[in-house]
Amino acid sequence: MKYILITGGAGFIGSHVVRLFVKSYPNYHILNLDALTYAGNLENLKDLENQPNYTFIKGDICDEALVTNLFSNYSIEGVIHLAAESHVDRSILDPHSFVKTNVIGTLNLLEIAKNSWKDNFEGKLFYHISTDEVYGSLSDESFFTEETSYNPKSPYSASKASSDHFVRAYHNTYGLPIVISNCSNNYGSHQFPEKLIPLFINNIKNNKELPVYGEGNNVRDWLYVEDHAKAIDVIFHKGKLGETYNIGGFNEWKNIDLIKVLIKTVDAFLGREEGASDKLITYVKDRAGHDYRYAIDASKLKNELGWEPSLQFEEGMKKTVQWYLENEEWVANVTSGEYQKYYEQMYE
Ligand code: NAD
Ligand code: DAU
Repeated sequence: MKYILITGGAGFIGSHVVRLFVKSYPNYHILNLDALTYAGNLENLKDLENQPNYTFIKGDICDEALVTNLFSNYSIEGVIHLAAESHVDRSILDPHSFVKTNVIGTLNLLEIAKNSWKDNFEGKLFYHISTDEVYGSLSDESFFTEETSYNPKSPYSASKASSDHFVRAYHNTYGLPIVISNCSNNYGSHQFPEKLIPLFINNIKNNKELPVYGEGNNVRDWLYVEDHAKAIDVIFHKGKLGETYNIGGFNEWKNIDLIKVLIKTVDAFLGREEGASDKLITYVKDRAGHDYRYAIDASKLKNELGWEPSLQFEEGMKKTVQWYLENEEWVANVTSGEYQKYYEQMYE
């Protein structure tokens, strides 16, 4: 049995990665370490509760004793590190918590993995999941490649860039076997409903305003979350040590155009007249330091490891809208409590 530690597995992307690995690899035992912050939810993994090759551990990646014990108790051979504070708007309000989890937490994992594996790095892998936001912001031309210089512009992306640098430093300095991927915006089921797509689906359904930052002209490159999980699987198994791979959807949308597609899709599902919810669009104050455009050139991953997105955007959007509309209880559960305080600070 091969033990793989996945951090942040109760979150949006992490839950899809945990499910894919538990179901695809019965010879792996997946240890899911997650602190269950506002963004982590065990309801995301209800279907795996009785799987024999899956164990959930509630805990903080910054907790040195806990992580050390995990490495002593299980012969962990791989780490897939997704745990993070992940929302740009929250990082503007509270940068410290981003440095704590994203930088200090990553450093803690690196140090413990290095110390546990140092006698034999053979067959071990520390896979760090990162974001395209570390590259900064693009104008209308060009794409982020693996050679693009880092130029993070928000507290979130600065903390992720810092964690990427530490991961590379551990490879360069100690020979830790690592790989990094930097992905564009994900969409799909189980995303905490303060990010654009799930927030807007719920607001359209409930006839609430849709707060479009600035003029809605910012561009994002959207990838279906299950395609991201498949890319992580490919990179974990076939990626070259020390390398970076960019992951993207080849699917750029201006926010306002994407929002119009969302409105049309939700209205159609609810049997409303076309255009019925257009009036909900409300232009609000722009996000501070709002990056204009992200777009990934994922050709290295495609050419070297054979991965490309499989789901068409229209299809992915329909599946996503349908999931949120059919899972009202999930939305209600995750949007209660602590989350409300942030929501009020951000939008009221
Ligand atoms: P998320 O916010 O939905 O989930 C983060 C998870 O990490 C949660 O389950 C949370 O409980 C857990 N967590 C937070 N702090 C922790 C700590 N100190 N110890 C243990 N667990 C902790 O995030 P997501 O959108 O699923 O993103 C996952 C990873 O992918 C992050 O590293 C993020 O930077 C990266 N990423 C996200 C996107 C995207 O579009 N969402 C795109 C590219 C990269
Ligand atoms: O590019 C990858 C990144 O994508 C990930 O690293 C982050 O973890 C993830 O949160 C996402 O970051 P964004 O800031 O792009 O995602 P968000 O859903 O917050 O916003 C998408 C776009 O929509 C962005 O241009 C801001 C805008 N927006 C967002 C919200 C929540 C609005 O106009 N109104 C809103 O209410």
